[in-house]
Amino acid sequence: MSGKTFVVTGGTSGIGLKTASLIVQDPGFDRVIITSRSSSRGQATVDMLATHTGDNSKVKISYIMLDLDNPLSCLEAASKLPEPGVDVLILSAGSVKLSDFNRLNPQLELTPAYCSSVLGHAIFIEEAIKLGRVKEGARVICSGGELQRSVPLFTGFQPYPKTHLRWKSHYKVFPYTAPYGYTKVRSLIAGMQNYLTYLSIFINKLGRENPNIYFVSVSPGGTATGFYTGFPQPLKCLVSNFSLLFRCVGVFHSLDAAADRFLAAATDPTFEEKYKTGSLVASPYKFPWYWGATGPLTDNTEYCPELKDRDLQDKIAKFIRYYTKKAIEIGEKEKLEGKVFIVTS
Ligand SMILES: NC(=O)c1ccc[n+]([C@@H]2O[C@H](COP(=O)([O-])OP(=O)(O)OC[C@H]3O[C@@H](n4cnc5c(N)ncnc54)[C@H](OP(=O)(O)O)[C@@H]3O)[C@@H](O)[C@H]2O)c1
Repeated sequence: MSGKTFVVTGGTSGIGLKTASLIVQDPGFDRVIITSRSSSRGQATVDMLATHTGDNSKVKISYIMLDLDNPLSCLEAASKLPEPGVDVLILSAGSVKLSDFNRLNPQLELTPAYCSSVLGHAIFIEEAIKLGRVKEGARVICSGGELQRSVPLFTGFQPYPKTHLRWKSHYKVFPYTAPYGYTKVRSLIAGMQNYLTYLSIFINKLGRENPNIYFVSVSPGGTATGFYTGFPQPLKCLVSNFSLLFRCVGVFHSLDAAADRFLAAATDPTFEEKYKTGSLVASPYKFPWYWGATGPLTDNTEYCPELKDRDLQDKIAKFIRYYTKKAIEIGEKEKLEGKVFIVTS
């Protein structure tokens, strides 16, 4: 019997890379695919992963080009997924830059961060499902975060996600952070909370439309990886130079611990039983883990009731589909003119 196919978007660094390096050793998987925006980084990572296979020497490792900033690249990447489809797909790619939360893409009138992280992944996953490249019974794991239900050390006690998602104006301009007063860090955090939650809600709508596929949002927890390079100072400096300090206060854990969470979501046979499709699985929101983003995986769905709100799922899916269509149309038009539409430029 042939083994399973595993795909992780953004597997060239950080948590995605660490997860891929563990999966290639698992004899249950005979195909492992990572994605990258760069062919040289993709190939170098494939070569590196090939040295980690241990006893699973028959595993086939490859990469697919995927740039979430380029709507047509997302479509093409989905078409490159192998037939008869993938068994586990982790959506982990992405980077954040403060500037991407504080301006609008002029053509789409949404923030570049939203266009890239939400629309990019939405185009990729919808196309993959449409082309039948996600098998029935597959697990689609969206990289979520504790920020979706607030991390007191970062956010104080303000319930950003709820407030924002219920705002009428929010559907148009994203994110709108004015009620909390503008500070760079706060704007970034509020923006991230919102886009992570939009993507989780969207995949939960996909879960309703595709009941034979399992969809879940899993937080890797806090870990000092490339994710923080786009953060404003002094947070960026603190994370890169004093990550041990963050670990001591229980906000961060090791890269291994972060990858173990994705590994559990990908391989634990009891995972789907423990966490219903559409759940948000993250650190416990109680003592002694309350302040940060570490600890054993637990069901956090109750702290983010938006995820299960069917009416909101329908609205957000409609909103996202309107904009993914528009982004693809702009991409195709610019392609005819010999240009490439990049949502973050
Ligand atoms: N670290 C944390 O504390 C934390 C907490 C919660 C959630 N997360 C989430 O976990 C995921 C991984 O984080 P990380 O810290 O491991 O990140 P990372 O080290 O910066 O790695 C990001 C990966 O995504 C790819 N990537 C970046 N921008 C992309 C784009 N526009 N289009 C396509 N691929 C892109 C990169 O590949 P190439 O450069 O080769 O294209 C790279 O492999 C992120 O989605 C993040 O939101 C992280």
